[in-house]
Amino acid sequence: MLTIGGTTLATPLLLAPIAGYCDLAFRLVCRSIVDVDGKGLGLACTDLLSPQGLLRGTASSLDLARTNDQDKPVGMQLYGGLPEVMAEGAIWAAEHGATIVDINMGCPVDKVTKKDGGSKLLCIPDIAVQIVRACRRALEPYGLPLTCKMRLGWFDDQPVAEWLAPRLIDAGAQAITIHGRTTVQKFMGTVRHEGIARVVEAVGRHCKGPGVSVPVIGNGDVREPQDAVEMMRRTGCAAVMIGRGALSTPWLFRDCWSLMNGRGVPPEPTTREKIDIMHRYFDLMLEFRGEPYAMTQIRRRISWFGKRLGRELDEKGRPMGCRALREAVREAGSPAEVREHFEVFAAGGLRGAEVEGGREVAAE
Ligand SMILES: Cc1cc2nc3c(=O)[nH]c(=O)nc-3n(C[C@H](O)[C@H](O)[C@H](O)COP(=O)(O)O)c2cc1C
Repeated sequence: MLTIGGTTLATPLLLAPIAGYCDLAFRLVCRSIVDVDGKGLGLACTDLLSPQGLLRGTASSLDLARTNDQDKPVGMQLYGGLPEVMAEGAIWAAEHGATIVDINMGCPVDKVTKKDGGSKLLCIPDIAVQIVRACRRALEPYGLPLTCKMRLGWFDDQPVAEWLAPRLIDAGAQAITIHGRTTVQKFMGTVRHEGIARVVEAVGRHCKGPGVSVPVIGNGDVREPQDAVEMMRRTGCAAVMIGRGALSTPWLFRDCWSLMNGRGVPPEPTTREKIDIMHRYFDLMLEFRGEPYAMTQIRRRISWFGKRLGRELDEKGRPMGCRALREAVREAGSPAEVREHFEVFAAGGLRGAEVEGGREVAAE
């Protein structure tokens, strides 16, 4: 059981915020795919939210923060560098359906770091501590836990997180998520398990004593169920957060949970089941955000879903691929056309190996 503050999660498996991807529709899809015991995803998070946007009621911020009764438990992630504004944002989140409030201390994008938000906070630790203190105070009346998501540090040779995490805990953070890369690494290279392990050790040393437990959540490069088990084994982290792996494999939480419980990895969903997952995702986007959004998203998302489609082998033993489906969905002019392409694919059509450098190659 993973407990953050007073909130116990069903599993130690979390869906990461991925700006532009982990919207309400996708979170509900991930939640709906569960193991034989009815469990899979333990906590999902919104994408990063601007507290100013939420407080002003900007339509785009409200869309990003949208949640509902089925989307629980849910973390709402705030970014910024102004403690008072972040605290007001935390109150907004508490009053609009958040189960947990998270502070973004890992985003490497200029637009965010230029305003002292995201991973810039790793370079101005006093402000990071002030933000946590202000948000914790603001959330106290609501009894909501506060968490921080960070990278190992800004520079490769300055492992700030192992030093900063205990200070954030003293200021009121109740869990630390650590993406095992530095800011300068962005998304390159592989995740550093040893860096995550050092943060786990530092937090463990700091939080000694009965009843004192602040979980560290490991994050980065979990693409297969074995990766999650391996991350916990190698780093000692209490839970695992999964981002990009879930974009292609929304059933990954179920698979991780099953493996962690000694039941092995369940059989991969059939093509029919995968297409049903895509139908559900598309229908939910249409319901929550309307046609223009759903059409734009499905055209982008088909590449991610495509990584797990068309894996049946042709007569030469190569995966058949789904290139024709990707192209058809990208060119579809209406929801009805998208649905029809899904159905043609489920019936065995719209296959095709990927084209790379003008040459046809098998999909991954
Ligand atoms: C396109 C993209 C958008 C992201 N947006 C956010 C975000 O809004 N907030 C955040 O904390 N992390 C964000 N991340 C980082 C992920 O949450 C995660 O830490 C990172 O991708 C490593 O985990 P993964 O290998 O499981 O994807 C983003 C990553 C990507 C690739």
